[in-house]
Amino acid sequence: MTSLEIIIVAAGSGLRYGAPLPKQYCDLGGRPVLMHTIDALRAAAPDAKLTLVISREMTQLWQDLCDRHNFTSPDIVFGGATRWESVCNALKSSVGIADIIMVHDAVRPLVSKEIIDRLVKAISSDTGVDGAIPAIAVTDSLRSISDDGHSKSIDRSTMRAVQTPQAFRGDRLHSAYDLPYTDSFTDDASVMEAAGYCNLVLTKGSSSNIKITNPGDIAIAETLMKLNSLS
Ligand code: C5P
Repeated sequence: MTSLEIIIVAAGSGLRYGAPLPKQYCDLGGRPVLMHTIDALRAAAPDAKLTLVISREMTQLWQDLCDRHNFTSPDIVFGGATRWESVCNALKSSVGIADIIMVHDAVRPLVSKEIIDRLVKAISSDTGVDGAIPAIAVTDSLRSISDDGHSKSIDRSTMRAVQTPQAFRGDRLHSAYDLPYTDSFTDDASVMEAAGYCNLVLTKGSSSNIKITNPGDIAIAETLMKLNSLS
């Protein structure tokens, strides 16, 4: 059987959000966003090993939240100053290397079984596939901006918005994370490409798999969760 590890990166400070707490700890329908994310992954991939990356300063807060909500936390690893470092720390802590490793943003609580299954299927289809990434079409019109402030339209039909979880062959992800850090590493796919693992398949993401970024996104997530529970 194919082994699966899912690393949940939750060590960001969420500064863009403007809330007193990082967004992954904010309340969503009575529980922190992060608990919804963990539960969604547990339901979608019951056999996966989950590894949770949080910042060291949040250990007590997370412990208190788990006690209050009677919630069992996955194994914890401490994060670093960048997302790349947080993923690196999780990979270094692994005992053994899973066949497939996914990395998921803690602030996407609406991840679904369909998204996970499509990723596993895409990777398992061919040993030449290095990884699989959920993506959706871009609905806004797009413009590219140059240094002098000028902008010009770009063809949105050639663009995709990329989501998490991103899934990779475990041994190749470990080897890609041996590279030294550069600013161009914005997600795990960019680290894989820098290491020469460029056969990354795009799978169907979901417009419901939102990344909680702004305060209004909590209300949107709440509505989407209610709709899911009705279907
Ligand atoms: O900052 P951004 O919203 O892109 O972060 C995406 C995810 O990476 C979040 O879930 C955040 O908690 C995580 N992260 C992390 N360690 C960092 C920075 C971000 O685990 N140093």
